[in-house]
Amino acid sequence: MSENTQVRQSHFPIKIFGLTFATMLLVAGIHMGLIQLTGFFNINGWIQTLIIMIYWFIMAAAFTVFTRIQIENAYEKPMQALAKATDAVAHGDFSVYVPALNTPDKLDYLDVMIMDFNKMVEELGSIETLKTDFFSNVSHEIKTPLAVVSNHAQILKAGGNLSAEQMESVDGILAATKKLSNLITNMLKLNRLEKQNIQMDMEEYDLCQQLCDCILQFESQWEAKQIELEVELEESVNLKADPNLMELVWNNLLSNAVKFTEPGGRIKIIEKSTDEEICVEVSDSGCGMDKETMKHIFDKFYQGDTSHATEGNGLGMALTLRVLQISGGDITVDSEEGIGTTFSIVLPKV
Ligand SMILES: Nc1ncnc2c1ncn2[C@@H]1O[C@H](COP(=O)(O)OP(=O)(O)O)[C@@H](O)[C@H]1O
Ligand SMILES: [Mg+2]
Repeated sequence: MSENTQVRQSHFPIKIFGLTFATMLLVAGIHMGLIQLTGFFNINGWIQTLIIMIYWFIMAAAFTVFTRIQIENAYEKPMQALAKATDAVAHGDFSVYVPALNTPDKLDYLDVMIMDFNKMVEELGSIETLKTDFFSNVSHEIKTPLAVVSNHAQILKAGGNLSAEQMESVDGILAATKKLSNLITNMLKLNRLEKQNIQMDMEEYDLCQQLCDCILQFESQWEAKQIELEVELEESVNLKADPNLMELVWNNLLSNAVKFTEPGGRIKIIEKSTDEEICVEVSDSGCGMDKETMKHIFDKFYQGDTSHATEGNGLGMALTLRVLQISGGDITVDSEEGIGTTFSIVLPKV
């Protein structure tokens, strides 16, 4: 675009400069004329001053309004449109388009910038589509042979006539395939959630019931670790969201709480609601995290505590955040090393 010589390079070219200069001279001329005129009609003293003052009042108002309108049209409006579009792109929406201000024959450098921006966003959008499509295709392709490996290992195991050593190998294969399959499932989920305009199956349902169900799923795990569980829920509360996606959130928060809490520790789940929002708090007396870890827990594949690295893939919190974002909710974390962690989730009430 920049090689286009038609493009206006300034919003204050010599023509406008000359025009402004001439207007100023004219205004000064009228001022002198007014003095002459009032002198001619013998209007002196305070009336003359008043006339001059009214004249300048009108002039000042006209200049101010004119400048304001010019600035608004030339800078503010296009810049605001661009700021809004940039924000949308930053949040992953590549469908934005900012219209140019002037017709193609009167383009200026701001128009060129806006058009370059549009082009850039379009390119980014196509790379993003390519990436997500490629990714989901490859993931599906990996899933099939993985299922075959897992099935064969299971058949071997069921056959029964294996030595202890062979059995150990088969279990190793099964554990590894399960882990890989979980990883791919999570990556596919995140990939799907990250796409714009994903279809959610919104439904109005009882969140308390869902929390109860999720908590119960972890019963064997917290009992095995002799973790003390404290649950404070309301009787019922209605939430409008995709229940399958919200289940991901609770399962991940609970699994982390159980995972990062030492045997004999404590986990607390509190649910409260006001007229506008529902708050859920999941806190544990586990290992906690330092400030650096807290900054990154929502990053994809980030695992702060490496001692539990094999039990997850670092995608849980990224998924949680994404689900809450698209459900209009929010999550905050408060943690202290060696003392425990509290996750607070806020969701809009129906
Ligand atoms: N309840 C918790 N207590 C301490 N650390 C936590 C807790 N929940 C999450 N984290 C930290 O956040 C990181 C990312 O969590 P997550 O995305 O669920 O991955 P993963 O569970 O696979 O490690 C964890 O590795 C851990 O360092
Ligand atoms: Mg996790």
